[in-house]
Amino acid sequence: MNGSSMSHYTETKEKILADYSRIWFTALSTFPCVLYVDGFAGSGVDKSGKDGSPLVALEKAAWSWERHQNSDFSLYFIEKTKKRFVDLERNIEARYEFLRKNASNPLTFKNKVRYSIFHADFHSVLPAIVSRVSSKNCPAFFFVDPFNCQIPMKSVVKMLSNKRTEILLNFMVSGIVRNRKEYSREKLFDIFGEDVDQHITMKRAMEIVEYYSRRLKNESKCYVLKYGMLNKKASSVYYLVFATKSPVGIKKMKEVLHRNSTSHYAFTNDFRNPKNNLYLFKQEEFESVLRKEFGGRRCFSTKEIEKRLVETDEYLLCSKQVIEGLRNMEKKGLIEVSEKFDDNGFIKSRRKNSFPVGSLEISFK
Ligand SMILES: C[S@@+](CC[C@H](N)C(=O)[O-])C[C@H]1O[C@@H](n2cnc3c(N)ncnc32)[C@H](O)[C@@H]1O
Repeated sequence: MNGSSMSHYTETKEKILADYSRIWFTALSTFPCVLYVDGFAGSGVDKSGKDGSPLVALEKAAWSWERHQNSDFSLYFIEKTKKRFVDLERNIEARYEFLRKNASNPLTFKNKVRYSIFHADFHSVLPAIVSRVSSKNCPAFFFVDPFNCQIPMKSVVKMLSNKRTEILLNFMVSGIVRNRKEYSREKLFDIFGEDVDQHITMKRAMEIVEYYSRRLKNESKCYVLKYGMLNKKASSVYYLVFATKSPVGIKKMKEVLHRNSTSHYAFTNDFRNPKNNLYLFKQEEFESVLRKEFGGRRCFSTKEIEKRLVETDEYLLCSKQVIEGLRNMEKKGLIEVSEKFDDNGFIKSRRKNSFPVGSLEISFK
């Protein structure tokens, strides 16, 4: 894989969707119902015959349902182009039948895992979907993957208006960079949700994405993460933008993006900074972040570290990296680690080199 072909982008995108949707369906299967929406579904398979986003999500819903069997899973797929819609119907129906037949209880599967396919413009069905999410008060996930078009900020914010809604959005920044001269003031307002300083259109892709993420964070009051899909010349093709109000959602998506990234400095497919080369610098960076957040404190708990460094979009750190960073600091004698009393007044003895969340206290030496 050369890291920049069209199929590589698609493969990485589907992998991120697969990894996260499996976690999402599983985590939310405690709710009576959940709703998954693919707003720009495509035909179900890509040019090379690999599963497209609708089949990826359907597989993960079935995988998760098989293990929990509590919730009602509804999956909505929307596709505007007639030919793709027809192919999508056929592809989904075939995969659904296969999954149903192989389910431990095919009849219950049929009643509990359901899908609907709409031959429609996403924008025209969005209001009805959002009001359904609100009326049922169910967790919802929107995968929004248009090519060559930008979703108005007001629509994105509308999708995120429900507390338990998350979104993974394809932000086609290369389209903005390419077409910026033709974009009217109204068009820019539509995308960014405010009157945009015309200078934004003169900026580089990275700055435009930063600006977009800040706007989205501000408008939706969500945590926002982004994954940069770069080409061979290291120019941005598009960004996957994720938004959620859930601290667990942000933590889990960080793990997924990190696993599918090549760099420690950003979530990206960028091939120029292989992860392994940056190990030492990463440790120094972790230490300075820990000092910045807790330097003025006598001691702090592993739970607080998790909350301030992991369950947030301020840092790219995942739990695994925090543990690794703390372990190195303890070895270097930079921190002291002690066990905490739990709520029942007991101390659970610590396994060597472990950093369980909630049962340890840390202080700088
Ligand atoms: C990038 S493709 C989707 C690929 C798919 N998400 C996947 O990963 O396999 C975008 C799709 O959106 C469809 N589309 C474009 N505009 C649309 C609209 N307004 N509403 C619904 N579908 C639309 C296109 O026909 C195309 O099939």
